[in-house]
Amino acid sequence: MKGLVISGGKGSRLRPFTYTGAKQMVPVANKPILFYVVEHLVQAGINDITIVVSPETGDQIRRETGDGARFGAHISYIDQLQPGGIAQAVGIAREAMGGAPFVTFLGDNFLTHGIVSYVNAFAASGDDACIMLKKVPDARQFGVARFEGERLVQVVEKPKDPPSDLAVIGIYMFTPRVFEAIASIKPSARGELEITDTIQWLLDHGDNVRAEVVEGEWIDTGRHDDLLSANRIVLETLPGDISGGEVDELSKLHGRVVLQPGCKVINSVISGPAIIGERTVIENAYIGPFTSIDRDCHIVESEISGSVVLEKTTIKHLGHRIEHSLIGRDVELAGDDRKPRGYQLILGDFSRVRVP
Ligand code: G1P
Repeated sequence: MKGLVISGGKGSRLRPFTYTGAKQMVPVANKPILFYVVEHLVQAGINDITIVVSPETGDQIRRETGDGARFGAHISYIDQLQPGGIAQAVGIAREAMGGAPFVTFLGDNFLTHGIVSYVNAFAASGDDACIMLKKVPDARQFGVARFEGERLVQVVEKPKDPPSDLAVIGIYMFTPRVFEAIASIKPSARGELEITDTIQWLLDHGDNVRAEVVEGEWIDTGRHDDLLSANRIVLETLPGDISGGEVDELSKLHGRVVLQPGCKVINSVISGPAIIGERTVIENAYIGPFTSIDRDCHIVESEISGSVVLEKTTIKHLGHRIEHSLIGRDVELAGDDRKPRGYQLILGDFSRVRVP
């Protein structure tokens, strides 16, 4: 089987991060979400992978993901010039799939347990398609499945009144038959060729569509809170490894901590689970549980807990602990001792700041 990763989109729900980068490249435990997707495909024995990208973020995704060698895969790229929906993105990959069955994986979908058993079961089944489901508290923001008894009869996109609590997650398996469906459906009210309409077409034409409820956690990382949840889940299971970093004798590390190559911990406390990125310096600081600090950051005389900090960011002399926060690339966040205490803020559109 082949792999098809859909990585276009504007990421409007993840602003301001997505003004300057692709949502699929936002890191979870210092690794882009997209890399987890590629790893899941490779684990399932899928090495021939195509990634559909948009003109806005395609260069970044190509540059950071590369030709796939580091994943043990071969990755090629296709540009989706207009944002026309997931089904359109699948449609333009027709030639790249070369008549083989394939797994389509949305590049912002995060899964903890992988897809190995589902891929094997689909390959052995002779079915025309397979969708994956997950029970969710509020299905209105997703595609939703309806069953009659055991039989899948309908998938609806973002229904106001969901027919079940089973969301259709962003991982689908298809045979080339799907291209006939895509060629036959019409754009939805939001002007997109919907993947749910594609699957409905297959159902309506008597094709066998399997449905599997996935094990483990699934997170559609479209929003800030979801990213922090994904970060927490990964850090919970990450084995500690401090061999890459330098820790002075005044510092204390508790619990599972990962120190990536070239980072330095000076007179600081790190309470795991936490990960500190390459060349990052932590100085006279406290890093609390469930925190990921990416590479080339400098954290000085500050306390951070339950947060994700992207690369090249400096945080110093803060009088209050940062909690449950998501801080972008190249940010400078500094307190000072002048009295009365004032705030000096240079914040981009859609920034969110909570000050005590
Ligand atoms: C898309 C699909 C939807 C699916 C979701 C999963 O929604 O259209 O059916 O449930 O991905 O992440 P979108 O992210 O385009 O709103």
